[in-house]
Amino acid sequence: MYLMERMVEQARANKQRIVLPEGTEERTLQAADRILADNIADIILIGESAEIMELAQRLHLAHIGKASLVNPSNHPKKEAYTQLLYELRKEKGVTLEKAQKMVEDPLFLGCLMIKNGDADGEVAGARNTTGNVLRSAFQIIKTAPGVKVVSGAFLMFIPDQSYGENGLMVFADCAVLPNPTATELAQIAISTAKTARDIANIDPRIAMLSFSTKGSASHEMVDKVVEATRLAKEIEPSLKIDGELQTDAAIVPAVGASKAPGSEIAGHANVLVFPSLEVGNIAYKLVQRLAHAEAVGPILQGIAAPVNDLSRGCSVDDIYKMITITCNQAISLKK
Ligand code: ACO
Repeated sequence: MYLMERMVEQARANKQRIVLPEGTEERTLQAADRILADNIADIILIGESAEIMELAQRLHLAHIGKASLVNPSNHPKKEAYTQLLYELRKEKGVTLEKAQKMVEDPLFLGCLMIKNGDADGEVAGARNTTGNVLRSAFQIIKTAPGVKVVSGAFLMFIPDQSYGENGLMVFADCAVLPNPTATELAQIAISTAKTARDIANIDPRIAMLSFSTKGSASHEMVDKVVEATRLAKEIEPSLKIDGELQTDAAIVPAVGASKAPGSEIAGHANVLVFPSLEVGNIAYKLVQRLAHAEAVGPILQGIAAPVNDLSRGCSVDDIYKMITITCNQAISLKK
């Protein structure tokens, strides 16, 4: 996959520090070993060092010795991170005593390292649920300046290259926000355009999807998509975006020309924004299974520093790719 090779090169040229809170998880450790062997990132593993090294030995991993190891219950910055956590969350009811416990949670510890400038990005979720990975990131790292919601995009590599950008499309939100308002949906479109530019390396043409095309149906759900499209254009006038569009009108040129004549997006969309998480999550899995597309993600967007969540069924290769993507997000956020 050409895009991944490009991302590997960019990560190598500007090495980032990636923290892996699940340092004692087998697939995570195997992916870390490959990343270190390929010189893609500096890796920080959270976990008991004896347990990590024992596992590395059992799995015959030759490069784990190059990683930095952080023991969650005992490390030199524990006091500083506890104080940082307390300051960030005291208004939400976190006491100093509670902060002392929370700081030993590897997911919170990873986010605190990023917040304190000791790491550039995090990848977790081979062992933890999406909710737990996201909640710690939202509470500690928070959204990027000017952004109110975090959402999750997938890079979809579709074997039929007539769709999107030679078969590459970006889908969102497929991972985070169950029922976005029109304002939140507009934000998701803007964040996804950024992911398309910075990570997929494409010029985004965004379709705001619905079950209606240009007023063919009337319903409050359609109104939400129309309003989100208007808001996104108002916030970012240069955005190439259109809606509401049905999927066929968005991606099939003949249908786009007939249902939405004059639209520069209809028939040629390479970014699909779904009206809710339910639709986005179901749609990406259908395309993955029925069209045999490779789905890479979810890539969290709109967050102040990159944190990415893995599926608990992920492979070593999935983790390797996600660490590489996280490095590229960190590089583009610093520009
Ligand atoms: N963007 C930014 N901040 C957010 C978002 C968001 N989308 N959602 C919640 N937050 C913030 C809240 O404002 C809150 O901040 P505060 O404590 O500083 O005020 C903080 O995060 C924690 O909020 P909670 O209320 O504890 O968490 P919530 O109940 O809102 O849950 C969560 C957030 C876990 C992400 C929830 O939206 C969720 O479960 N989403 C679905 C995730 C999922 O299961 N996806 C499908 C699987 S993934 C896949 O298949 C690829």
